[in-house]
Amino acid sequence: MVRAAEGELPAWAAVADESRRWHLASVAASLDRWARDLGLSDSDRARWRAAGWLHDALRDAPPESFDPAVAPTWPALLRHGPAVAGRLAAEGVEDAELLNALAYHSTGHPELGALGCFLVLADYLEPGRGFLPGWRAALRAQLPERCDSVLRQVAAARISHAVQRGYALLPETVAFWNGIAGGAGPGGASEPGSRKARGGGAG
Ligand SMILES: [Fe+2]
Repeated sequence: MVRAAEGELPAWAAVADESRRWHLASVAASLDRWARDLGLSDSDRARWRAAGWLHDALRDAPPESFDPAVAPTWPALLRHGPAVAGRLAAEGVEDAELLNALAYHSTGHPELGALGCFLVLADYLEPGRGFLPGWRAALRAQLPERCDSVLRQVAAARISHAVQRGYALLPETVAFWNGIAGGAGPGGASEPGSRKARGGGAG
């Protein structure tokens, strides 16, 4: 993991071309900056950078090359995250927060820790992406302090995009949303803005 934190990817990540590596470096730089601003230790900063460098390391690999046991029910384009986590686990990496962050960076998951949530943010808000530049820059400017609010906006945008295209949502994504949503909505039991729902459904 130490080498990944410095941008040295495993041999199996050779499929990542120059533009992909630019994206990985940019995501790693955001995570490093936010970890520093949050006062995390040097070792945690290195873990956060490693997550940035590794999250899309297999994004350009053909899904047929992944272990068939890796997220078999998921759409092909989302399986690169679990594939990376599986590779690292097989190599002896035991850092559960890091592995979960990598596996679920495209989908969300109700058990994501701070690293996983900030990886979702760093990936979606990466400056090199072309869509909605003004809105995404305004969200970046609120980090890392207002991470709950920004995460809700990013998750809502991603989920809305998927729904508008007619895609089904994975159970992990629905549970992730229910954990960060502001409440059960009109007529629901919990108040908008409440964080009581985190990890326990929307009430
Ligand atoms: Fe990414």
